[in-house]
Amino acid sequence: MYKITLKRQLTKDIKLMGILAPHVVRNAKAGNFVIVIPGETGERVPLTIYDWDKESGVVYIIFQEVGVSTVKLGMMNEGDFVYSIAGPLGRHFHIEKYGNVVVVGGGVGVPAIFPIARALRDAGNSVTSITGFRTSELSILEKEMKSVSDAVIVATNDGSSGTKGLVTDALKALYDKGGKIDLVVAVGPVVMMKAVSELTKQLGIKTIVSLNALMLDGTGMCGGCRVTIGDKVKFSCVDGPDFDGHLVDFNELTSRLSAFKAEEKISLDHCKIHLAGR
Ligand code: NAD
Ligand code: FES
Repeated sequence: MYKITLKRQLTKDIKLMGILAPHVVRNAKAGNFVIVIPGETGERVPLTIYDWDKESGVVYIIFQEVGVSTVKLGMMNEGDFVYSIAGPLGRHFHIEKYGNVVVVGGGVGVPAIFPIARALRDAGNSVTSITGFRTSELSILEKEMKSVSDAVIVATNDGSSGTKGLVTDALKALYDKGGKIDLVVAVGPVVMMKAVSELTKQLGIKTIVSLNALMLDGTGMCGGCRVTIGDKVKFSCVDGPDFDGHLVDFNELTSRLSAFKAEEKISLDHCKIHLAGR
């Protein structure tokens, strides 16, 4: 059992949580994820590590309440205990000096990009961050991204804060200004990572994406997180989650992610009815 030491509401549906888990913190690196099981009978929730504190042993995650398990996790409070937290899992992001790097985060993908931007900057890269949200009310981590970036561009679909448009509009505008971009890293909804990869392929810029495939065990045993990268089948949990965006079969990923949508909705509706009846 692992104690929740911090809980903060970032937007209506997005929460930050700190969990005392020294075994995770000991080896955590940018790009790793954890699998959290909120209660004894709960499902396994894979979440990218947002941050960690070596001294206190606390690992920080940011999640959106989208299904039964994240809703249940979101109902837990400081002082409560999660049943299990396994990690760090996955290969950490490969850090080296690339030069000028643009990190692109969409919505609740932004927390995953934060430690990557920080590690890239610490390695001597110039880091420009582009974060995209549907509207200003959904905007998160602007101050934190500024603390690990040389420049931050916030884009909102409706123009309610920052520049108006999608992250791809902001990226194209940045490219058109003429600055050299050596690497793009993108984390967010699959449609966003696909659109970023299509753009950077045209522009000839190497691009890494972090894939949020369906996961069960997180250790390469179940095959649930299978993705196609070029002509190879890979497991997102042990071979990734980071892959060359120009090689990812995004259509297959989208189709696999929607395979259990109907069952997930039924389960979430039951959960809501149960909670409303309390
Ligand atoms: P969202 O739908 O609100 O989109 C966020 C931003 O992404 C938009 O404002 C826009 O700038 C950009 N975007 C969306 N569609 C686009 C398109 N077609 N072309 C170009 N840009 C586009 O995002 P959300 O609802 O917060 O969802 C975030 C997603 O991130 C979730 O699907 C979640 O699974 C995923 N995620 C992935 C990881 C990972 O490690 N891969 C980690 C956390 C979250
Ligand atoms: Fe089971 Fe990756 S989650 S193989």
